Amino acid sequence: MTYVPPLHDPQARGFASDNYAGIHPEILEAIARANGGHQVAYGADAYTQHLQGVFQAHFGADAAAYPVFNGTGANVVSLQAMTERWDAVICAQSAHINVDECGAPERVGGLKLLAVPTSQGKLTPELVELQADGRGDEHRAQPKVVSITQSTELGTLYTVAEIAAIVEHAHARDLAVHLDGARIANAAATLGVPLRAFTTDVGVDVVSFGGTKNGMMIGECVVVLNPDAVRGMAFLRKLSMQLASKMRFVSVQFDALLSGDLWLRNARHANAMALRLQAAVRDVQGVEVQRPVEANSVFAILPAEVTERLQARYPFYVWDQQTGEVRWMTSFDTTEADVDGFAASLAGEMTGALSRRQAG
Ligand SMILES: Cc1ncc(COP(=O)(O)O)c(C=O)c1O
Repeated sequence: MTYVPPLHDPQARGFASDNYAGIHPEILEAIARANGGHQVAYGADAYTQHLQGVFQAHFGADAAAYPVFNGTGANVVSLQAMTERWDAVICAQSAHINVDECGAPERVGGLKLLAVPTSQGKLTPELVELQADGRGDEHRAQPKVVSITQSTELGTLYTVAEIAAIVEHAHARDLAVHLDGARIANAAATLGVPLRAFTTDVGVDVVSFGGTKNGMMIGECVVVLNPDAVRGMAFLRKLSMQLASKMRFVSVQFDALLSGDLWLRNARHANAMALRLQAAVRDVQGVEVQRPVEANSVFAILPAEVTERLQARYPFYVWDQQTGEVRWMTSFDTTEADVDGFAASLAGEMTGALSRRQAG
């Protein structure tokens, strides 16, 4: 066989996103294990059937798992299944569904989003209440679902008690609760509790369960915890173009992630690298770490010239052009040397910028 070299440097890692990372070797092995022979398509395969029990072991006997292609799809399918045409979804202004899904919840799901400004990306019962009015008024979209993200888009976490309080308040108002868990594993890792502790056990109705950011190649999963909160899941997944024909290759990845402790190992490692990064940059003069580091990202404010110079060596994103806030994200394959090298480069650039400023 002819050797075909990779088109990229397989050793290069940056801090742009956990989506930039490759596939965890144990996941890759699992995909290969599921290969060969024929299996029924569209989810009636042995791997997807087996997966139901795997998710039930984490989330309880009523959990039903619907693998999908991506997180936007998981959110749009979940929220459609939880709402009528006239309903609305209350979410944080910074929520991925509100900011980063190209309007798919609105355009594809036909959903009205009621976004609330928050501190650090977290809703509270009081903030939910700001948008919970208008019930029975035919002029108003009807609030029906509260969607929270755990861990949040800003790298923060809800405690178990905070989610319990939101769910209690929501249910008392006849609102169901959806949890965008694109980084749910990172949250469980920091909280040190089982996945069900801040979902099933506190009454969350539906979870968009993230796999890709935690070492999978592709795939997320809608996990319905309360069957009474949804309708038409199977149909909505297909009409939303999220039904994989060769589903066994998505399901087997979740099996590899969740049957043992790979999900937790990966998340713990990514979180630990974020803490290491925070510790390394916190004391660099001129760098302001902006938010609590509770999952696998660090947000900091830097001078624009330093950001540009650093970005030439390490990919990462500017989160807010106005303030100069940047986001550094770690993943399952970030190494201590990556973090230390990056922090040293940052310190060097900051010193350079300071002396250029003094000289000029
Ligand atoms: C909080 C959150 N939800 C959902 C997603 C899903 O995104 P995608 O559709 O790219 O898989 C992401 C991806 O960045 C995310 O950060």
